[in-house]
Amino acid sequence: MKNSFIKSGLRSIGVAAFSLMLTAGFQSAVIAKQLTVGFAQVGAESAWRTAETDSIKNEAAKRNVNLKFSDAQGKQENQIKAVRGFIAQGVDAIIIAPVVETGWEPVLREAKRSKIPVVLVDRGIKVSDDSLYATLIASDFVSEGRMAAEWLAKKVNGKANIVELQGTPGAAPAIDRKKGFEEGIKEHPEMKIIASQSGDFRRSGGKEVMEALLKKYGNEVTAVYAHNDDMALGAIQALEEAGKKPGTDVVVVSVDGVKGAFEAMVNSKLNCTVECNPLLGPLAFDAVEKAKQGEKLPKKTIVPDKTYDQSGAKDVIASRQY
Ligand code: AHR
Repeated sequence: MKNSFIKSGLRSIGVAAFSLMLTAGFQSAVIAKQLTVGFAQVGAESAWRTAETDSIKNEAAKRNVNLKFSDAQGKQENQIKAVRGFIAQGVDAIIIAPVVETGWEPVLREAKRSKIPVVLVDRGIKVSDDSLYATLIASDFVSEGRMAAEWLAKKVNGKANIVELQGTPGAAPAIDRKKGFEEGIKEHPEMKIIASQSGDFRRSGGKEVMEALLKKYGNEVTAVYAHNDDMALGAIQALEEAGKKPGTDVVVVSVDGVKGAFEAMVNSKLNCTVECNPLLGPLAFDAVEKAKQGEKLPKKTIVPDKTYDQSGAKDVIASRQY
């Protein structure tokens, strides 16, 4: 009696252990399944963009994700085509850094119908139904514009004739950084934007626009606000070629915080940059994994930004990661 009781006890322990092993084995098989993720990138217009691409690629490799990468060369139609290609291939998730804000609804509906979660990185979009994407991980571009304006206002004692170099028309950072900057200078009536043109987030664009505007406005220009560092660096070149001392004759502020901007600050040519962190790979793949596990994600995760100027540039340049 006692023996058979012990035997049946041992049997049930054995069954429980076996089923535990089965569950654990099943779970690790599920965890071990390699994810295939499509990444529709804007292009390679700036050092910031290259840093973002590297961050996503490195993180994919670290997590053994099979990454399908597409460079849209700055064109939304290429991005939409890439996303449709990812859907046709049946990827597990899609990451998009959208070129512009509008025009995404049809392709995102296709992704939703195919039950493929979409994670947006760095730039937001305008859609009537926000269930079309799982989450957006990005900086607050309006606040970046405001931070640049506040820094400039202090530097110039509330008085400046500003040339604004805008990013790609229709892109969230171009729209929002303009808005934030205009808000920031509103309370300084003697800070005026005398010209505002797009340099498409490119160094060559910043240089060309600055050359043309210097011809038109000459010594009237006392400050440059560029929506990214690459355009600021192009403008700095144009200022030097026009015989001016950027950083001294003309105050230059921009956004991004790339290595080249820190070098220019150390060399006293750029006055200030508002950091916009491109190292979004870890957050993007955390979001992909959570979405795949059916977890509800916040609609937006804001990546914090910080202002740097010449005073601290030398101390931090060696530790900059991009
Ligand atoms: O969307 C982020 C912006 O796009 C960066 O400021 C710029 O460098 C890039 O091209």
